[in-house]
Amino acid sequence: MTDTGRIPVIIDCDPGHDDMVALILALGNPKLDVKAITNVAGNKVMEKVNRNTLNILNWCGVDHVPVAAGAERPLVREYARKDTDGCHGITGLDGFAFPEDNPLELSPKRAIELMADVVRSSEKKVTFICTGPLTNMGLFLRAFPDLKDRIERISLMGGTCHFVLTEPFMEFNTYLDAEATKIVFESGIPITMYGYDVTYTVLYHDDFLERLRGIGNRTGEMMAELLKEFEIMHNRVWIDLGGGPVHDACAVAGVIDPSVITESDRMYVQIPLQAGPLSGATVCDYAHRSGKPENVEVVFRMDNEKFFRMVEESAANLK
Ligand code: BDR
Ligand code: CA
Repeated sequence: MTDTGRIPVIIDCDPGHDDMVALILALGNPKLDVKAITNVAGNKVMEKVNRNTLNILNWCGVDHVPVAAGAERPLVREYARKDTDGCHGITGLDGFAFPEDNPLELSPKRAIELMADVVRSSEKKVTFICTGPLTNMGLFLRAFPDLKDRIERISLMGGTCHFVLTEPFMEFNTYLDAEATKIVFESGIPITMYGYDVTYTVLYHDDFLERLRGIGNRTGEMMAELLKEFEIMHNRVWIDLGGGPVHDACAVAGVIDPSVITESDRMYVQIPLQAGPLSGATVCDYAHRSGKPENVEVVFRMDNEKFFRMVEESAANLK
């Protein structure tokens, strides 16, 4: 097999408006070879997340990437997500009417089987981009420990170092399945963490939505509609910082072009599981006082201009 020079990636996600941006950024960029998309229950239950992923792909004209359903609930904890709440609306992608008839179907394999197949058959080590709770990733590492060394890096949206949004001191993905998060963070695999510290500094405004519409294709139009709605829902439910966040897409951008990261630091990050306000939090040794080995690269700032240009270019490369 010839080396295409592209980076083989698996995207593990729970769309979600910002997962949608992450998928489009990855699928439209020529540097990435998206080998598979696996779904995990997170923002919404598995059935809705499956539907959303397939709807995004179908709308954008992507029919060559296998999509597999994954874990329907966290490894140990209850699935602490009411299906009616949250910033992604009832469907998980409120704000755009996708066509009812979608010819795309799920793979007959479950997420971790598809992950294993891709990792085994890839010439190069595979990069995982995780934009939902880490349940599938944790299961994969437990089920296929022999494949760990075939993973290049896990680039994930999750966690927070300094930016505290709520108590418990959590970020949704890492907190929802804290046990899985702990497995991943203690795996020894290189991890880049795009938590709230950076993702809440990468905000879009109306001018970006205009740029998406200005592309003049279906993908840009759909993104603009969804992101308009997401900004309203997110800023009402969570926090209004004067723009809309696209959390998950940050974890894709750094894989495509690491120079988009302008500030980061390697440190020891611990995931406490005991009941209490820190259960499932990412406790970051940012002052390097613990003496423990650094297991995570925590990202703090990105080049926003470059980032939004990358998203726009990817959208333009799709249908
Ligand atoms: C994360 O939670 C979800 O709402 C988003 O899709 C993102 O992955 C942000 O905390
Ligand atoms: Ca997500």
